[in-house]
Amino acid sequence: MQTYTSIRELRGRIGEWRKANPEGTVGFVPTMGFLHEGHASLIERARAENGLTVVSVFVNPLQFGPNEDFERYPRDPERDASVCERAGADLLFAPEVREMYPKKAVTRVLVEELTDRLCGASRPGHFDGVGTVVSKLFHIVQPDRAYFGLKDAQQVAVIERMTEDLNLPVGIVPCPTVREPDGLALSSRNVYLTAEQREQAVVLSRALGKAGEWLSEPELGASELRGRIIAYIERAPLAVIDYVEVLTYPDLQPPDGLTLSSGNGQGGRIIVALAVKFGGTRLIDNRIFG
Ligand code: PAJ
Repeated sequence: MQTYTSIRELRGRIGEWRKANPEGTVGFVPTMGFLHEGHASLIERARAENGLTVVSVFVNPLQFGPNEDFERYPRDPERDASVCERAGADLLFAPEVREMYPKKAVTRVLVEELTDRLCGASRPGHFDGVGTVVSKLFHIVQPDRAYFGLKDAQQVAVIERMTEDLNLPVGIVPCPTVREPDGLALSSRNVYLTAEQREQAVVLSRALGKAGEWLSEPELGASELRGRIIAYIERAPLAVIDYVEVLTYPDLQPPDGLTLSSGNGQGGRIIVALAVKFGGTRLIDNRIFG
């Protein structure tokens, strides 16, 4: 595996590979580093489906709010390189902030509507930063396929829509959430949790499991389901709910009709999405049904 910090050199290398492999495809996995098995699963999938696998590690300042954890976001470049290598990456792109943003960025990629709710509502400007950096990375790497985790299902919906609206020639591949044995979704932010918070954080995935059971009730409506999930999460004393939402996926609209089984019956999918704080750490999780 080769590591690049320069856009020009990375492009040169990918260009050479394309020339030598005219039929080959390039798979791309964008990340913010502090890599875990969730990221590794995306890299392995990209490796299995493409001739060249490119991973980026870049903590993107544009997607963090002024009071968020950009400065203290966990970083471990050496371990990241070994995770990438082990998972089968060919090229690692790890630019400095000044390489990605040599000037103040005055151009933004804004995806409207889909970003009004869930994490977009809790983190104003977050998805503008994500859309902007992902579109920059797509222009730098020019992959055939890009791999994203459904752990961040709203991010997948936003990137898919951006790619479609802007006719970007990249296939977006959504990948399943990788979890700890007790169900907690892997996240770079899990390292912030104290032992007690970590124990209680399992309430997110359990609540989603319960939601799945409740959804089989024929008369259940979205607001009743939401209420039950909130009550379930509140049994964990350290949990502070940011949001619990039941929406259609990938449009992220309130489901039509009173009962979810009829909503499901329209052929649509339903997402149950949660954001819950434990102390200063905000965890997200979701499940998509139907
Ligand atoms: P990051 O949080 O590092 O995540 C990189 C990719 O790994 C995302 O597609 C995310 O959904 C996926 N991922 C994280 N945890 C996962 C898990 N437990 N199972 C499966 N996939 C998981 O998401 C970002 O970075 C950034 O917003 C980025 C897209 C890189 C733009 O800066």
